[in-house]
Formats: sequence, structure tokens, C-alpha cells
Amino acid sequence: MRRTCLWRLVKLLAVTVALVLSAHVVLSRVKPKPSLIPAEEYRLVAPETYEYVLNQPAVCEHRTRPPFLVFMVPVAPLEAAAREAVRKTWGAPGQDTIALFFVGLSEGGRGPGGRGSGVQSALEEESRKHADIIQVNFQDSYQNLTIKTMMMMSWLATHCPNASYAMKVDADAFVNVFYLLGRLRSSPGRGFITGSVISDGRPRRESHSKWRVSKELYPEDSFPSYVSGAGYVFSTDLAPRISWASRFVRVIPLEDVYVGLCLRVLGVRPVYSLGLPTFRNLFEVRQLEYDRCTFAQLVLANGFKPPQLLHLWQDFSKGHSSC
Ligand SMILES: *[C@@H]1O[C@H](CO)[C@@H](O)[C@H](O)[C@H]1NC(C)=O
Ligand SMILES: *[C@@H]1O[C@H](CO)[C@@H](O)[C@H](O)[C@H]1NC(C)=O
Repeated sequence: MRRTCLWRLVKLLAVTVALVLSAHVVLSRVKPKPSLIPAEEYRLVAPETYEYVLNQPAVCEHRTRPPFLVFMVPVAPLEAAAREAVRKTWGAPGQDTIALFFVGLSEGGRGPGGRGSGVQSALEEESRKHADIIQVNFQDSYQNLTIKTMMMMSWLATHCPNASYAMKVDADAFVNVFYLLGRLRSSPGRGFITGSVISDGRPRRESHSKWRVSKELYPEDSFPSYVSGAGYVFSTDLAPRISWASRFVRVIPLEDVYVGLCLRVLGVRPVYSLGLPTFRNLFEVRQLEYDRCTFAQLVLANGFKPPQLLHLWQDFSKGHSSC
């Protein structure tokens, strides 16, 4: 009697040990423990490195309730016409949404008499009028888009943590805000990111490529799944988590791939958004010929100049519900 009892105990212990060991093997295979990148490299994307030149720190608080969706639009300081088109179309302030523009410093500096000083004073004037511009003190350039994106994440985490969703979207986009809001109301509220998912991306190695990444900076042959930077939507709980993950990801100048690498650290997979019943990709990262009822079934199309966007919106905003 006592011997069988002991024997059972031994068996139970052995099974437990085996389970714990195999769980450990499986977990460590799924998620390799990330290592910190060198401090001087992290400095380049660390929010502490930069200062706000223009900010709207209370824009999410000064409302009856937090915005449901925040549009975060990266633009160059000079692109005033693009900002104006966004304000008059999908970015118009609503009950559920606000749109904010993220800019760096214009080339030539902002000091008095500098080449950029005219651009800067116009930007400050625009900021006083609309209160929707956030400017950070790094030089605005294509190469620095990763810095801009990480500043957006930090800004959201600090100044708008109670918003439900955010959309990082370029100013040349058409956004079907009506359809998007409907979809988001039935989306998972946390750990969610969607857009045009690219699951077969590979680094370009040619020295002349705009998208070149050196083997030294990124030795792997492929990228993890990521969402195209033209426009993606995420639950705001991801903003502080992506910020945190950037301590583990070497800085590459491809901002959308960079966010994908941060998501891999977090174990978060971006998901496709398909329309029903067509199974059509809702985020079309290309310029489509405007057609009211085709656009009514999409979230995003891009490549529009400000006058085109203004023009198509006149028709779309009035007619989309009759499709
Ligand atoms: C977010 O909500 C919490 C709890 O409701 C509140 O205490 C906090 O002030 C809010 N933060 C912002 C930035 O609105
Ligand atoms: C931003 O980009 C420019 C050139 O594209 C570069 O010279 C500059 O040092 C970059 N970084 C910052 C933090 O401004």
C-alpha cells in the first residue's frame, strides 16, 4: 500500500518535471529572449533625446470623453496644403475622432534668419489657428521617419492613453472614416494592429536603393510580418509597448518594418482586414480610380494630391451611405 503510494508520487513528479521542461523548450523556441541594443544607438529613437517645439499636451483631455480614434499624420513642415486637405476631409474633428500632424524641423533650421525661418513662422501661425500640430526637434527627412514614428508612439502613450485606437496614416491617403469606425467598434480592444500586411518582405541590399538596409544592421534574409506605413490602425495599448520594445531593435530607416520588428519582440502579429462578403483587402496601398461605391467598401487608398482628395470627398461624404 505505502509502496504504490510512493510510486504514484514519483510518477507524478516525473510527469510534472517533463511538462515544465517541454513548456520551457516550446516557449523559448517561440520567443527568443531579446537583447538590448547599444545605449548610443537607442538614443536615436529614445523620446528623452528630443524636445517638443510645438505640442498639444491636453488635446485629448479637453473633451467630454477621450477620442475613440486618433489620426496621427506624419507630414513635412512645408506641406500646409496637405494638412488643410486632411482637416477638410477625413481628418475633420468629430465626436469620435481627432487628427494630429507630426512634423520635424524644416531644413535650414528654425533660428531667425535661417533658411527655414519663413517655413517655421508659417507653421507656428498655422498651429495657433488649428491647435493640431506637434513638432519635434529633429530634422524632418525621409531617413528620420523611424524617429518620427517612435515619437508618435511616445506622444500617444503620454498624452492620449485613454483613446481606444490610433491610426498612423500619410497625408496623401483617402480614409473611409465611416466604415473604419464601424469596423473598429467590433474589434478586439487590446493588442490589435491591422493594415496592409506584408508577410514576405525582404531587405534590399543594393547600394542605390532608397530602401537599402545593410547586412551589418539587419543580417536576417527576411522581415517579420509588418503593416505598410501608408496607413495602419492599432489599439492604443500598443503605443507604450512598442516604445518599450524599441530598446531591443536596432534602428533601421524603414519605419514600418521597424514597427514590425518591435511587434515581433512583443509577440503581436498584425492582422489582415478583409471586407465581407468580398474578402477584399480593406487597406489598398495604391492609387485607385475614384468610384464612390468601391471606396465605400474600403478603409484606405492612397496617392492623392490635396485637390484630388478635396474633390472626391465632396462626393463621397454625401453619397457613401446610398451605396
Ligand atoms: C485617463 O483616464 C484615467 C482614468 O479614467 C484618468 O485618471 C486620466 O487622467 C486620464 N488621462 C488622460 C491623459 O486623459
Ligand atoms: C535626420 O536626417 C538628416 C538627413 O537626412 C540627418 O543629417 C540628421 O542628422 C538626422 N537626424 C536627426 C536627429 O535630426
